Amino acid sequence: MKPIIRRMTDSDLPAILEIEQAVFSDPWKRESFEFEIHVNKFSFPVVMELEGRLIGYAVAWEIFEEFHIADIAIHPDYQGQGWGKYLLEYLLKRARAIGSQYAMLEVRPTNRRAIDLYRKYGFHEVGRRIRYYRDGEDALVMKKNLLPQLEENHT
Ligand SMILES: CC(C)(COP(=O)(O)OP(=O)(O)OC[C@H]1O[C@@H](n2cnc3c(N)ncnc32)[C@H](O)[C@@H]1OP(=O)(O)O)[C@@H](O)C(=O)NCCC(=O)NCCS
Repeated sequence: MKPIIRRMTDSDLPAILEIEQAVFSDPWKRESFEFEIHVNKFSFPVVMELEGRLIGYAVAWEIFEEFHIADIAIHPDYQGQGWGKYLLEYLLKRARAIGSQYAMLEVRPTNRRAIDLYRKYGFHEVGRRIRYYRDGEDALVMKKNLLPQLEENHT
C-alpha cells in the first residue's frame, strides 16, 4: 500500500496537532502551521495519508539554495515501519526537483532515531546551536549536499 503525499490544508490541522503533541516535548502550535500554510511564501508543508488516515507530515522551507526541513513527524502507531524514510525521500526528491543545493535541519542530539535516519540519507553534522530548544537542549545542525558532484552515497 502506497501513501499519498499532498499539500497541507487547514482541515488537516486537528490530526497534525494530535501527532505533534504526542511526539514532541515542545510542539508547534496551530498558529505556526497556519502561518506555514497561508503566509510563509517559502514554505512547503505536506501531509502523508495512508488509506485515508493522516500518518505523517512535514514542513520544509525553500530558501533559495537551501531546502530546510523545519518539522517532520510520523504518527506514533506508524513509526518504525519505513514511513519516515518514505517522507524524507519525497522531500529530498522535491528539493532536487526545484534545484536546491543542499538540505538542512536541526535535531536534538538525544533523538537517535531521527539522527540515524538522517545519516542514512547522507546528512552529516555541520554545527551545533547551543540551547536552541526552549528546554535548554542544544540542536545538532545537519546538512546534505544535493548537487550531483557533491552528493554522498545513501540508501
Ligand atoms: C524520526 C521519525 C520521523 C522517523 O520516522 P519512522 O517512520 O519512525 O522511521 P522509519 O521506520 O522510516 O525508519 C527510518 C530509520 O530510522 C531509524 N529507526 C527507525 N526505528 C528505529 C528505532 N526503533 N530505534 C532506532 N532507530 C530507528 C533507522 O535508522 C531506520 O532505518 P532502517 O529501517 O533502515 O533501520 C519518527 O520516528 C518520528 O516522527 N519521531 C518523532 C518526531 C521526531 O523526532 N521528528 C524528527 C525531529 S528532527
